[in-house]
Amino acid sequence: MEVTMVKLINFRNYDELLVELNPKINIFVGDNAQGKTNLLESIYVSACGKSFRTSKDKNLIKINKDQAYIGVKINRRYSNKKVEIKLDKNKIKRVKVNNYEVEKISALYNCLNTVIFSPEDLKLIKEGPQVRRNFLDEEISRLKPLYRHNIQKYNKILYQRNNLIKSIKKNRDKIDTLDIWDKQLMDLGTSIIITRLKFINKLSKISHSIHSKITGNKEKLKLSYYCCINNKISQTDIFNSKLKDSIINDYKIAIQNSIEADIEKGSTSIGPHRDDIDVIINNVNVRQFGSQGQQRTSALSLKLAEVELIKNEIGEYPVLLLDDVLSELDKSRRKHLISSFKDIQTIITTTDNIIFEEFEDIERFVFSIKDGEIKKV
Ligand SMILES: Nc1ncnc2c1ncn2[C@@H]1O[C@H](COP(=O)(O)OP(=O)(O)OP(=O)(O)O)[C@@H](O)[C@H]1O
Ligand SMILES: [Mg+2]
Repeated sequence: MEVTMVKLINFRNYDELLVELNPKINIFVGDNAQGKTNLLESIYVSACGKSFRTSKDKNLIKINKDQAYIGVKINRRYSNKKVEIKLDKNKIKRVKVNNYEVEKISALYNCLNTVIFSPEDLKLIKEGPQVRRNFLDEEISRLKPLYRHNIQKYNKILYQRNNLIKSIKKNRDKIDTLDIWDKQLMDLGTSIIITRLKFINKLSKISHSIHSKITGNKEKLKLSYYCCINNKISQTDIFNSKLKDSIINDYKIAIQNSIEADIEKGSTSIGPHRDDIDVIINNVNVRQFGSQGQQRTSALSLKLAEVELIKNEIGEYPVLLLDDVLSELDKSRRKHLISSFKDIQTIITTTDNIIFEEFEDIERFVFSIKDGEIKKV
């Protein structure tokens, strides 16, 4: 799918903007604070109904204005769509698809799909396990709504179990009621772990092949699910017919072994809420030992794997938004990367105008951005 046109009124630092995009590569060059990320954000909002930078729609409206407008035209394989969003300081936002107002934001998901990669995504590699678990849970939930439901249920039971173990510390008699919660927690937890193992198995294969391409076959990327119940469980076990029984077994032992420590701490130390993904390049953990460039490239490979997963799911490539990430990679990585997304509509921002020269033999538009005004170069 492709975004063919973007219209903005009073969105962030834009007064009025109308820009037509190339179905392949679009490069927006500008200094800092000129409106590059704002433009990508407007496209992202048209796809998801919310920003990736703020949870407050009000912030998207130009300072000192009361309303803002985003209009986006999309070409899809079998249909064309027009998405319009009206933001109002004092009212909830209104969304129109093909001129008809829609009640639910989820109506947008069938119009435009985007994957954004920004410097922030480096967190996926560098920061603690929570960031990777969230990535994992978001990705799986998008494909399997039941998984989101299971995660919510698991968190609720976890919360109740934690409350109970806090009270057990004061009153030991309550320990008899722990079994009821543990049974539910283990059932849901096991199902979550198995779904994650299956997903990681797929994600690891796709990101491995993308990463090999970007690095000219120099680096072998591997993802491995770290399961705190038993760190020997890995995604290759999904082919074992006794996997479920074996996880439940390990789960029971692990939860039993940690019970006293959990009561002491007042929290549950075992379960999928403590698991992680190990990101490994050439057998070395990237989080601990990877160079900046390796960390950036592996985060990018994970995100680009998301592009492929969406393609597998809906039969069309989403629009790829790359916010200021190319200049951080070396020339060879950039070259391989560019050739790997030449069939996907890609919207790239950069402060460095040398970069667009590297796209010379690819169909592309180049624009300059200055103070909320865009000119085609
Ligand atoms: N609601 C708003 N109203 C007016 N201006 C805003 C609003 N929100 C952000 N801005 C301004 O928009 C300008 C451009 O922001 P943007 O994040 O798009 O910059 P950028 O071109 O991506 O810069 P960088 O290269 O530093 O990332 C900034 O000066 C910012 O303060
Ligand atoms: Mg920016």
